[in-house]
Amino acid sequence: MSELRIAVVGAGLMGSDHIIRIENRIVGASVAAVVEPDEGRAKAALAEAPEAVWFPNIEAAIAAGGIDAVLIATPGQFHEPVLLPALAAGLPILCEKPLTPDSASSMRMVEAEVATGKQLIQVGFMRRFDAGYQSLKELISSNGQGELLGLHCAHRNPEVPESYHNDMLIFDSVVHEIDIVRFLTDSPIKSVEVKAMKRNSNNHEGFNDPILVLLTTQSDVLATVEMNVSVKFGYQVKTEAVFENGIAEIGRTSGMNTWFEGQIGTAEHMSFKTRFAAAYDAQIQRWVNATKRGEIDGPSAWDGYLAAAAVEAGLEALHTGQRVDANYASKPAFYN
Ligand SMILES: NC(=O)c1ccc[n+]([C@@H]2O[C@H](COP(=O)([O-])OP(=O)(O)OC[C@H]3O[C@@H](n4cnc5c(N)ncnc54)[C@H](O)[C@@H]3O)[C@@H](O)[C@H]2O)c1
Repeated sequence: MSELRIAVVGAGLMGSDHIIRIENRIVGASVAAVVEPDEGRAKAALAEAPEAVWFPNIEAAIAAGGIDAVLIATPGQFHEPVLLPALAAGLPILCEKPLTPDSASSMRMVEAEVATGKQLIQVGFMRRFDAGYQSLKELISSNGQGELLGLHCAHRNPEVPESYHNDMLIFDSVVHEIDIVRFLTDSPIKSVEVKAMKRNSNNHEGFNDPILVLLTTQSDVLATVEMNVSVKFGYQVKTEAVFENGIAEIGRTSGMNTWFEGQIGTAEHMSFKTRFAAAYDAQIQRWVNATKRGEIDGPSAWDGYLAAAAVEAGLEALHTGQRVDANYASKPAFYN
C-alpha cells in the first residue's frame, strides 16, 4: 500500500491538529475523509485537507469505501459508536485517549477486537512516544541508579473551559499519568487516593482544583500527581524520579534563555499541542508504518481497558476521599 487513506472522525481541537499533522508532516498517509457533524468545523478541516471527502457519520464513510484506517478524535463518550462499526469493517484504528470512559465499555471494545481475531486498535496515549519519557523508562529499566522508589508528577494547564468539571480531572487529565506511570514502572496501578489542595480562585463556580493524586503501583512505587488546570502561567508536564542513588527529571522547558530588563527567562509552552508536538508526530508516523504491516505499534485496547479501570478507582477516590483499589479482569491471551 503506497498511501494510507485515513478517515479522521471528529475535527475539533485534537482532530484538526492531527489533520494538519497527517497532511503536512506524516509520510505515506493522507486524510481521505473527515467525519464531523459540525459543518463549520468540517469546512475548516477540508481547507487543510482539500482532497478529503466530508461525511456526517462513520457509517457513511465506511459505506463509501476509499478509506484504509480510522483516527478517532471525538470526545471519549463518542468513541464506542465509532469503534464498533470500524472494527466490524476490519479497519485499523488510532483511538484518542481514553479508549472509552469506563471499564465496562472498554471491556466491550476489547471483546469486539478479540472477536475480529486481529489487533486493530491503538490508543492515543502519546506520552509513550515523548523522548523524555522514553529516556526515563530506559533509566528505570536499566536499574542504573538503583531501584525506582517514587515519582513526582506535575500536570499543569493555564486554564480550562467552563464545561470542564471535577471528574474530568481524573478521566480526562490524570488518565495520562495513570497510563504513563504504568508504562514507566511496567506495573499496573494498585490503588488511588486523592487529596484537595487549597482551591484556586481562578476556577469557575463548582470546580475544585488543584488536586494531589497518589497512585501506588502493584510494584509498590508511589507516584504523586499534582493535577492543576487553572494555573495561568502555561502548560507544563514534568516528572521527577527518585531512585536509590539519585534523581532524574524530565519535562523542563528548554530552548532559548533570555536576559532582558533585569530578568532571566525561558519561554514556557501554553498548550499540549506544542509540548507534545514531536510525540504526536512520532505516534502517528509509527502507527501509519505499523498499519501498513498489519500491526499496531503502541498502547493496545488492553492498555486502554487497564487505564479505564484505574480511572474508575480514581473517580471513587475523588468522590469518597478514601484510598481505592483498582479491580482488573484477567488479561485475554490474545494480548500476550
Ligand atoms: N492525547 C492528548 O494529549 C489529547 C489532547 C486533547 C484531547 N484529546 C482527546 O481527543 C478527543 C477529542 O478531544 P477534543 O478536545 O478535540 O474535543 P472537541 O470537543 O474539541 O472536538 C470533538 C469533535 O468531535 C465531533 N463529534 C462529536 N461526536 C461525533 C461523532 N459521533 N462523529 C464525528 N464527530 C463527532 C464534535 O463535533 C467536535 O468537532 C478526546 O478523546 C480527548 O480526550 C487527547
